[in-house]
Amino acid sequence: MSNVVIVGAQWGDEGKGKVVDLLSSYAKIVVRFQGGNNAGHTLVVNGVQSILHLIPSGILYKDTRCLIGNGVVVDPEILLEEIKDLSSKKIDVTPERLGLSERAHLIMPYHKAIDMAREKAKGVSQIGTTGRGIGPCYEDKISRIGIRVIDLTEPNVLEEKIEENLREKNFYLTNFFGEEPLKADPIIERYVAMAKELEPYILDVSMEVDGAIRRGENILFEGAQGTHLDIDHGTYPFVTSSNPVAATACTGTGIGPKSLNSIVGIVKAYTTRVGKGPFVCELTDECGDFLQGRGKEFGATTGRKRRCGWLDLPLVKYSSRVNGITSIAITKLDVLTGLNPLKICIAYENQGKTMENVPAKLSTLSSCTPIYEQIDGWNEDISEARTFDELPKNTRAYVKRIEEFLHIPVCIISVGPERDQTITSNNPFNGDIS
Ligand code: GDP
Ligand code: IMO
Ligand code: MG
Repeated sequence: MSNVVIVGAQWGDEGKGKVVDLLSSYAKIVVRFQGGNNAGHTLVVNGVQSILHLIPSGILYKDTRCLIGNGVVVDPEILLEEIKDLSSKKIDVTPERLGLSERAHLIMPYHKAIDMAREKAKGVSQIGTTGRGIGPCYEDKISRIGIRVIDLTEPNVLEEKIEENLREKNFYLTNFFGEEPLKADPIIERYVAMAKELEPYILDVSMEVDGAIRRGENILFEGAQGTHLDIDHGTYPFVTSSNPVAATACTGTGIGPKSLNSIVGIVKAYTTRVGKGPFVCELTDECGDFLQGRGKEFGATTGRKRRCGWLDLPLVKYSSRVNGITSIAITKLDVLTGLNPLKICIAYENQGKTMENVPAKLSTLSSCTPIYEQIDGWNEDISEARTFDELPKNTRAYVKRIEEFLHIPVCIISVGPERDQTITSNNPFNGDIS
């Protein structure tokens, strides 16, 4: 038995979906524990691409059960769309395959309206959110006025809560932002209709995960976003509104911390970021364009161009600390082919001082410059390599340098988007935290 958590070690889009899909064949259950449909996880199997926003990336394996934990914020409209979309691809997302926590909070139309109105009002100082209502939904959860999945089972309660919340939200939307108010009736009608469709999926995720742990079954916890988008540990305020770090696998599903055996940090071989916020290693030259183009770095949720830069190891080292990462998966290594020389950031410089940690003060982080180490690149196509030894010498040296800097072993190397374009040196389901 082994329970594995997958977390993003950078600013999201590290390739978590691909790794979760890959490891799902070893898992009885795959469970999402935070975030919402701000996530876009891409899986490519036999040339067919699927992008998942809410349903866990284990859904392509017919024997894997997928769960959405209490820590996730759920837009029911998107969830139903995703279920239908998968069904049209002959993946039947029945209640036998998918369960939804009764304690998860629901994203409501007013959350999206507030998210977008706030971004519009902020103008140049906007966060660059995905506009999916994530922040406002978590705000309501913490303010204790949120609407939970369980409320879908009681239409009267649902109606009352929507009406009450709308009085406050409409005041805010109209008087503060100058936006149009939302009408309660169509929202109530729509949510009551969706409740009927979703009811068979609703259950107690904590009980189910706990049962699986007791039976000794393998569980895969699928993180969304990345450590530097974490509301506590990220580049605040340019972050998301949840905690994408590994500890949330417990609070976001309802199990204890002793149940986690292995924390896999997903590290893209270079760095990307969507939305605003400091980015020490950002490249705005032709090298950045090369990474953006070769890496097809467009947001899987919003389609926005991702900002690109060299690998930032202080950023990843910070992530390894706050997550307790036990092994790393390096993704998109193939994208670096043809770039020579390569650079890796090993520390920051600020006002003549060398810094090895990511500072909390945003103005300090924004004025840091990277201290790079140069590494010889390679020109060989590595996308067909299936063992570490099949990689060119310089590629192996790049991987070894990352391992050596972080003092963490590499368990997986991804050399292409396809499931089988992978080198697995150590299956995280076999290894335990010692
Ligand atoms: P996630 O949000 O962490 O799941 O990552 P995304 O799906 O948003 O972005 C990762 C992108 O890189 C997707 O388009 C993947 O298909 C693709 N990808 C994943 N691993 C590799 C890889 O090793 N090489 C290449 N070239 N593409 C990859
Ligand atoms: P996955 O799971 C990359 C970013 C947004 C924005 C900030 C806040 O695919 O890695 P939000 O809508 O969450 O309030 O936006 O967070 N962001 C992501 N960036 N990958 C993601 O998810 C992201 N989810 C949110 O671009 O900068
Ligand atoms: Mg993504």
